[in-house]
Amino acid sequence: MESPHRPGPLLGGRFAVVTGGAAGIGGAIVAAFAAHGAEVLAVDRDEGALAPLAGGAIRTLALDVTADGAAARVLEACGDEAPDVLVNNVGHFLLPPTPFAAGDPAGWEAIEAVNLTHVLRMTRALLPAMVAAGRGGSIVNLTTVEAFRGIPGHAVYAACKAAVTQFGRSLALEVGRHGIRVNAIAPDVVETPQLPYSDWVPEQERWRWRTWAPLARHGTADDVAGAALFLASPLGAFVTGTTVHVDGGTLAAGGWYPRHGGGWTNRPLDP
Ligand SMILES: NC(=O)c1ccc[n+]([C@@H]2O[C@H](COP(=O)([O-])OP(=O)(O)OC[C@H]3O[C@@H](n4cnc5c(N)ncnc54)[C@H](O)[C@@H]3O)[C@@H](O)[C@H]2O)c1
Repeated sequence: MESPHRPGPLLGGRFAVVTGGAAGIGGAIVAAFAAHGAEVLAVDRDEGALAPLAGGAIRTLALDVTADGAAARVLEACGDEAPDVLVNNVGHFLLPPTPFAAGDPAGWEAIEAVNLTHVLRMTRALLPAMVAAGRGGSIVNLTTVEAFRGIPGHAVYAACKAAVTQFGRSLALEVGRHGIRVNAIAPDVVETPQLPYSDWVPEQERWRWRTWAPLARHGTADDVAGAALFLASPLGAFVTGTTVHVDGGTLAAGGWYPRHGGGWTNRPLDP
């Protein structure tokens, strides 16, 4: 029997919008999509980081996705072309770990804006054009491992990311009949400008990854881009309303840690 999975670009003739597309995970997704034949609109507030990306299959739009009217400007930048793929990638802790009871509601609003509200606004702005185009499509939202376990000092961030995950599940039910799939990616320990693990873990301490993550290393933005490519392309054709965990196994491990000398422990001290 012949397989429908053929070699060749996975996103030929497709148009994708990627927010936070200038660097980190978003930057790797833009590069992966373009390498697989997509036209990409990379949206980011960092004009300097966006500039070198423009050209060929990649267009850029410098704006802050949390600003009033940002989603309408992205729709306008799409022109007559309805997106086939939307990646809502922007997200940030914003604040250092702060006990919830000491938090300032103004800070919560900023966290909501950068982790949740723009995802709703961007999706609301682009979805009608995706539906009207009648070609189906894929929406990929970046959530986090902390939508599936806790994180001390970042309760509001975790709540917003859990909301993004649940928003996607419900939206998937609404738009499935249009051939539009909605999924999330939940990364952990992925090296990016926001989380520079190579700086945090100096060379002589890197053996410790073996005692921290089941896959014994930090992740790369390209690891996440691979999952985004799967979800955006026909490879993920029957996948909707779910989350791909790109975390080297940290969620699966829960409170279990590989021991340096072999075996596992869930105890502060082994007897
Ligand atoms: N790196 C990880 O291990 C990790 C873990 C869990 C979740 N995530 C999630 O993955 C996504 C990407 O994370 P990252 O580590 O690549 O982030 P990053 O901060 O390294 O890069 C984010 C990109 O988005 C842009 N950006 C930030 N705020 C913006 C705004 N308001 N408007 C437009 N552009 C904006 C930045 O300029 C940058 O180019 C985020 O949603 C994050 O919460 C990442």
